[in-house]
Amino acid sequence: MTSRVKLLVFLLSTAVTGLLLVLQFTNRFHLTVLTSCACEKCLSEDSLLSHRMNLSVEPFLSAKTNLSEEAFKWWQRLQNEKRDFQFFKKVVNNVFEIFPSSPNPRKPHPDSCRTCAVVGNSVNLKGSHYGQLIDFQDVVIRMNSAKIKGYEEDVGTKTTHHVMYPESAVDLHNSTHLVLFPFKIMDLEWLIKAFTTGFYGISYAPVKTKIRANKDLVMVINPAFMKYSHESWLEKKGAYPSTGFMTFVFALHICDEVHVFGFGADSDGNWSHYFELLRNKKLKTGQHPGHHEYAVLEQLANEKIIKFYKGV
Ligand code: C5P
Repeated sequence: MTSRVKLLVFLLSTAVTGLLLVLQFTNRFHLTVLTSCACEKCLSEDSLLSHRMNLSVEPFLSAKTNLSEEAFKWWQRLQNEKRDFQFFKKVVNNVFEIFPSSPNPRKPHPDSCRTCAVVGNSVNLKGSHYGQLIDFQDVVIRMNSAKIKGYEEDVGTKTTHHVMYPESAVDLHNSTHLVLFPFKIMDLEWLIKAFTTGFYGISYAPVKTKIRANKDLVMVINPAFMKYSHESWLEKKGAYPSTGFMTFVFALHICDEVHVFGFGADSDGNWSHYFELLRNKKLKTGQHPGHHEYAVLEQLANEKIIKFYKGV
């Protein structure tokens, strides 16, 4: 073989080896991207969600959260908070001297499928027989004064996370995460006091003085996450999103697969509950954009991004 031919053979084989290496690398790369979870479909990879979902918005408030002044101002208006940003930061620091400084939710993993049930309080759960289906999910998130006793067949028995604010607080089992949605600074003060000396302040509705729950499982939602839920998921419709809707967006961020139960007004357009008779016949959906929230859930269900169980 002449030296020219030898050179050609050498160059060719180097090029082929290089090509093979590149192909192998891209193949591997694809594999890891496509299997960030072990479900049939992983929410974080759904391209139909990409224009709304912003995974960089941190759902949890922590000692390290760097809340922008703009987000604080948005949050301040929700329930007419008069105290300023400096005071807010001081109270946040006090909160995380007592509660876990940053919650540690299960992270996405190629070998696991984190399925979640978000259970709203709609009357449409009555007679639904969804209990088993709800309990079958890894994470079951309930909210406010949700009841279980006497409703097991329809709503299940498991609660891994219970969302609340002071005016809707209930005692929890030792293994359930208390997820606080703060709407004003008093809510953060309440959290501290309800676990320690007792809270004796006044609000627009009666507030529990003390709460029975596991202090090590407390999580607090980041006001910036609430703002993002309103802006990105509801196009700023209504005064601000309902607790149930923000809980739903929260689930999209911590789960690979989301199953939604207990959302939807009754035939008169009121947000009545499965566990009590409606007293205020003019309730409608309060100051929340209930129709729009429902439409968003329906659209995501039609696009097969979530499973939406509409009850009876
Ligand atoms: O009434 P409550 O706020 O406790 O209900 C929890 C959540 O469930 C609401 O914030 C709302 O998102 C949802 N809900 C609903 N339809 C109802 C009742 C409640 O969508 N009839």
